[in-house]
Amino acid sequence: MQQMTTFKPTVLVAGGAGFIGSHLCEALLYRGHRVICVDSFLSGLRENVLPLTNHPGFTLIEADVTQPLTISGPVEQIYNLACAASPPQYQADPVHTMLTNVLGCGNLLELAEAKGARYLQASTSEVYGDPLSHPQNEDYWGNVNCTGPRACYDEGKRAAETMCFDYLRQGRVDVRVARIFNTYGPQMRPDDGRIISNLICQALQDQPMTVYGDGTQTRSFCYVSDLVRGLMALMDVGQAPEGAINLGNPGEFSILELVDIIRDRLPGVAQPVFMALPTDDPQRRQPDITRARTLLGWQPKVPLSEGLGLTIPWFASQVGAEAPTPVRAERVAARSMAR
Ligand SMILES: NC(=O)c1ccc[n+]([C@@H]2O[C@H](COP(=O)([O-])OP(=O)(O)OC[C@H]3O[C@@H](n4cnc5c(N)ncnc54)[C@H](O)[C@@H]3O)[C@@H](O)[C@H]2O)c1
Repeated sequence: MQQMTTFKPTVLVAGGAGFIGSHLCEALLYRGHRVICVDSFLSGLRENVLPLTNHPGFTLIEADVTQPLTISGPVEQIYNLACAASPPQYQADPVHTMLTNVLGCGNLLELAEAKGARYLQASTSEVYGDPLSHPQNEDYWGNVNCTGPRACYDEGKRAAETMCFDYLRQGRVDVRVARIFNTYGPQMRPDDGRIISNLICQALQDQPMTVYGDGTQTRSFCYVSDLVRGLMALMDVGQAPEGAINLGNPGEFSILELVDIIRDRLPGVAQPVFMALPTDDPQRRQPDITRARTLLGWQPKVPLSEGLGLTIPWFASQVGAEAPTPVRAERVAARSMAR
């Protein structure tokens, strides 16, 4: 007799071929869920989900979330991560980015309502803009330029949050909103233009690292397995928390400190070069994660230097440089977090 595989409830991950989405798909499969990954491959890569395509619980659908989605069968949870996250990628077609955030969110909320599914929106610390309050807690309304080159992303995400909470207030969908702060790890694209990928790839290729501004601006960096664990905790918590939840690592580092940690890991790298700050680049970023700690019992575990140690070999494999440690170590880490 043929043996049937039984799965936990079906989860749809929009943007599942992206950096965070592919880790999330893997962690959900590992936990026994059936996973439907919906992605247009705008910024995500087929290689990210290629290792998952042989899994009997994994389905890949190539689709743009700005178009209405038809999915047959039950769906119990929807994670919406669909949106390019790095400035060069989301600014390449800003109108499409805005539509992805607004129409995409609307289409997926409609699907969630039709299926009776729980919905989690991947929002961003960018909703705080260039913050006048530090560290940023969820009650801060933000300082965002609504007409600048980053607005398609920041304001798009803000509009998506609005729509999520309107659906929630109307009792139509059980919604959760995660405000994600800078996240890094394997499966980031080497060419995506984000600070961690830029600096590590330059260092690996014996180029001087580029620092924008004087390098005193700060960021907080969360390792991807911590973030995925936080997203799943937010989805799984019985009662939807009131309002959005910050997910990020509160450790705050200046860009110059980040450069120093990378130089410690890759000795012999040249002194950095300095260039002008991009428009509307925030000066300080640090999440207040009190709500996530209290409501989800979640906090990050992986310190920056350890996370970079797991990430550098990934970029080395992408740019053809020598890898200091095995890349697979991270995937094992992501799976153990998912248990
Ligand atoms: N990585 C971070 O530091 C960070 C920080 C804050 C928020 N976020 C949010 O988390 C989510 C995932 O970010 P990421 O870093 O994995 O980015 P990513 O660019 O690697 O992944 C986004 C995925 O969405 C897909 N996508 C984009 N537009 C789409 C569309 N219209 N239809 C279908 N698929 C589409 C892309 O192809 C890609 O696979 C994004 O929503 C982003 O805004 C990420």
